[in-house]
Amino acid sequence: MRELAAEFRISIEDMILPYFVVGGKNKKEKIPSMPGIYRLSIDYLLKDLDSVQKLGIPGILLFGIPPEQKLKTENMKPLSEVNPAVYSKNGIVQRALYAIKKRFPELVLITDVCLCGYTAHGHCGIVKIKNHTIDNDSTIEILAKVALSHAESGADIVAPSAMMDGEVLAIRKTLDKNGFDNVAIMGYSAKYASSFYGPFREAAGSSPRFGDRKSYQMDYRNLNETIREVDQDIKEGADIVMVKPALAYLDVIRAVKESSNVPLAAYSVSGEYSMVKAASEKGWLEEKKAVLEILTSIKRAGADIIITYWAKDVAKWLK
Ligand code: PBG
Repeated sequence: MRELAAEFRISIEDMILPYFVVGGKNKKEKIPSMPGIYRLSIDYLLKDLDSVQKLGIPGILLFGIPPEQKLKTENMKPLSEVNPAVYSKNGIVQRALYAIKKRFPELVLITDVCLCGYTAHGHCGIVKIKNHTIDNDSTIEILAKVALSHAESGADIVAPSAMMDGEVLAIRKTLDKNGFDNVAIMGYSAKYASSFYGPFREAAGSSPRFGDRKSYQMDYRNLNETIREVDQDIKEGADIVMVKPALAYLDVIRAVKESSNVPLAAYSVSGEYSMVKAASEKGWLEEKKAVLEILTSIKRAGADIIITYWAKDVAKWLK
């Protein structure tokens, strides 16, 4: 009876699993703050995807970690410089896409379109030398190039996460002009400046070396601004919009759901994962129960798609 009357259920068909991909071969590097999640080289990633497909997970979100990154940060190149690997067809994300698409044509491939892993300073865009502010317009030009290179390599959905004004429109135009009108855009429309990205930044080595992301990510004290950002992204051509983080932003998910009519994704971010992992390792929380409760609450709030590092576990738990 309880089963029959339950209003909301999560299902694996709605889940997306993020991956961190690194250069080289035979690499499976632990991420200390995210137990169970690894930085994988392409060969390992392909192996892992066998199980992902068997588990019925419909799609993945790819983050690339360029091999040159460490070197670059040590040498602090000019502020305006971006590692060209970000839009090269030999870049790590592009090579991964190509290999995955060939082997798993049905898997939905989503890519993060951002510069933070590819700038010496770790900000999501080009920084103006004069006053250390972000150069919005030159950044969106590069983001469009990045998105195009992802589409050419096999991405089904590109997800701009830099939070630059006009990024969705710039990407849409470039994709259409080059014959990729069937590649969809998932806007990180409501991306808050959040402390819950901490473990991700450790995983991706993408922390800003100075300042913070508050000038381009949203203030968690605001909600109306978010609705405006979402409307704007939809006007610019976003096919899917996203709220991120998820757990501390359930009201935002609900508000966006009510104010828009495109599919809504919620990103349960690294800090949400690490928090529950740490507590479960100490025996303070029961991981499975806590995770199913959290993810169901994200669904109840209104998310159509849930991006979660727990996707594989959930698939097993729901079986
Ligand atoms: C890159 C990006 C970040 C995340 C996704 N894309 C980090 C950031 O904005 O600092 C965070 C994801 C997570 O914490 O799981 N802009």
